[in-house]
Amino acid sequence: MLTMQEIKNHYYFTDTDAELLKELYPLAQSKSDAMVEDFYTYLLKIPETAAFLREPKDLARLKKTHAEWFLSLFCGHYDNEYMLTLQSIGQAHVRIKVSAHYVNAAMNVVRRFLIEMLQANFPDIAVRRKYRIAVEKILDINLDIMSTSYQEEELRRVFVSH
Ligand code: HEM
Repeated sequence: MLTMQEIKNHYYFTDTDAELLKELYPLAQSKSDAMVEDFYTYLLKIPETAAFLREPKDLARLKKTHAEWFLSLFCGHYDNEYMLTLQSIGQAHVRIKVSAHYVNAAMNVVRRFLIEMLQANFPDIAVRRKYRIAVEKILDINLDIMSTSYQEEELRRVFVSH
């Protein structure tokens, strides 16, 4: 099993990237309600994902959960504990049987939201580029770790069926 340091190395994720993400925290915080609105508008439009979001009281709780995850992208420290949290987030989706496809597609919604956020707030191309690269790395790392839960579940099923 890889450590968080190894994963970061494989994505060329540096301390500078961590600093850049931390600098974005206040901006991301000011946009987190808008991000969650986009995220849920998207999930509620697809019958397969909307089916997981039926109860209005659960919806408020879940929106908070997804907003907290969004802000954690900008926490500035990405250690083994961060990795374990992402593994358990992946496992939560495997457990309730959200298809990996929708997790990937939802990540694309977050990616687009963030690229547009950077576009609107950083007119200088060189500055925007360094933030965008750090954002892309942390999103890919998140997806990588969450996807591992799906791959492990797949392996378990193959193993059990033989
Ligand atoms: C739970 C993040 C995609 C539905 C969670 C939790 C987090 C999270 C942090 C809390 C996990 C825990 O309690 O340990 C994400 C991220 C996604 C994503 C980062 C992709 C970018 C989706 C999609 C759906 C979904 C596509 C489909 C509707 C849910 C539900 C729960 C949940 C229903 C509650 C699970 C439970 O009750 O145990 N998600 N999520 N999520 N997510 Fe997501």
